[in-house]
Amino acid sequence: MPAPSLTTKRLLLRQWKEEDLPFFAQMNGDERVMHYFPSTLSVEKSKDLADRIQKELKEKEYGLWAVEVVGVAPFVGFVGLHYQDFPAPFTPCIEVGWRLGFEYWGNGYALEAAQKVIEYAFDVLKLPEIVSFTTMTNQRSRKLMEKLGMIYNPRDDFQHAKLPTNHPLRPHVLYRLKNPKIGP
Ligand SMILES: CC(C)(COP(=O)(O)OP(=O)(O)OC[C@H]1O[C@@H](n2cnc3c(N)ncnc32)[C@H](O)[C@@H]1OP(=O)(O)O)[C@@H](O)C(=O)NCCC(=O)NCCS
Repeated sequence: MPAPSLTTKRLLLRQWKEEDLPFFAQMNGDERVMHYFPSTLSVEKSKDLADRIQKELKEKEYGLWAVEVVGVAPFVGFVGLHYQDFPAPFTPCIEVGWRLGFEYWGNGYALEAAQKVIEYAFDVLKLPEIVSFTTMTNQRSRKLMEKLGMIYNPRDDFQHAKLPTNHPLRPHVLYRLKNPKIGP
């Protein structure tokens, strides 16, 4: 079943459209947006990523939703849930993640979207826990995790298996949020 649209006060979280791709490529080519990733993405790699994102969002009940700011901007980036199974002590897991175009930062859009996504993950999908992770120095992303009430435990710090040994972005932090309606 494809993931449903979700709405918040200012946002529509929806399936992707072909028209989203040029701005997505622009975002992924922006060094400010991709500062905490190994590199910016070419237009071709950006299209491949969008294809993978759209596939998950169509085949599962969740994914990385395209975010529209209603009446303001038809596409500002993605926020959503993603299944991860790379080798790490906490995988397989479902993470909450985000990436917005630089010009849309500082409006609380990522927070508003992520709060809705977490509500959906807990109330509809009934997930017992969601996690979020990022490279240790990505303070903006960590601040968002903290605003969402996610809990950081230094014992969960890990080296990202997909990055080469000694890569400066390899040390990662993990934040967890338990579903208050499930479990002890
Ligand atoms: C991580 C990312 C999504 C955070 O975006 P953001 O806009 O800073 O996050 P928020 O939605 O929480 O917005 C917070 C800011 O909006 C401001 N704000 C304005 N109006 C607001 C409102 N109505 N409600 C809440 N915050 C509001 C806050 O004061 C805060 O401002 P500050 O940046 O000066 O502290 C963004 O930096 C990004 O896309 N980064 C690149 C991709 C990335 O690193 N992803 C994570 C990889 S793991």
